[in-house]
Amino acid sequence: MASKKKTVPELQAMKARGEKIVMVTAYDATFTRILDQAGVDVVLVGDSLSMVIQGNPDTLSVTLDEMIYHGRIVRRGISKAHLLVDLPFGSYQESPEQAIRSASRLMKEGGAESVKLEGGLPMVATTRRLTEVGIPVMAHIGLTPQSIHAFGGFKVQGRGTGAAAILKEAALAHEDAGAWGLLLEGIPSPLAQEISASLRIPTVGIGAGAGCDGQVLVIYDLLGMDNSFNPKFAKKYARLADTINGAVGKYIDEVRSGAFPSAEHSYS
Ligand code: KIV
Repeated sequence: MASKKKTVPELQAMKARGEKIVMVTAYDATFTRILDQAGVDVVLVGDSLSMVIQGNPDTLSVTLDEMIYHGRIVRRGISKAHLLVDLPFGSYQESPEQAIRSASRLMKEGGAESVKLEGGLPMVATTRRLTEVGIPVMAHIGLTPQSIHAFGGFKVQGRGTGAAAILKEAALAHEDAGAWGLLLEGIPSPLAQEISASLRIPTVGIGAGAGCDGQVLVIYDLLGMDNSFNPKFAKKYARLADTINGAVGKYIDEVRSGAFPSAEHSYS
């Protein structure tokens, strides 16, 4: 049977059926087409593009216009997967009204089918307001990279009874406010498992263990595009940095030696 378009209700039904949700980031149409055809459920245009595409040290500097641009080009590669786009830093924290304006642009101009915002209890009112006006929201809690300066770096969150209790409360509050799902990043596995079991909506984890209802990885991490980036949570399913290095090295050698282009790659 042909697989269905992954709508928000379908993603929620996957949790009810006990099927894991597979999410991967993408930033362009070509990667997206491959991910969609491979059967990925959700393509996330993450603000991680600030780091892996733009070369910044964190996710803070990517703009709403840049997120819209990448959303629009990723959209062209989508057939079945759900398209989730991040609200970037500074585009929603001011007020729920600012969040509605930014999320509307991500949907109208960037092709988003839902938006993701970072933040625990202080962002619950924004989740509620967006949901009320028909904008599906995924709430991202735990190690929220837009708050690294408040955390003092990329540090695991939710350790200790007090911190864990706050995250559990935030998870339930976002569900109550209408979030379609929750992204759990950089928290202890038992806590992620407990949160996932306590919710009707699906959780998708990164650095949050196997107890989540799905997993997400940054495509460049999954493919091993940076040999100097080796965090514990990011499994490399390929070593493309080495493959690309080898291929480009061979091309350089052949151009310099005159072996390329041969008659096979030339017009008579
Ligand atoms: O921006 C991003 O890619 C993300 C994932 C790491 C979850 O939010």
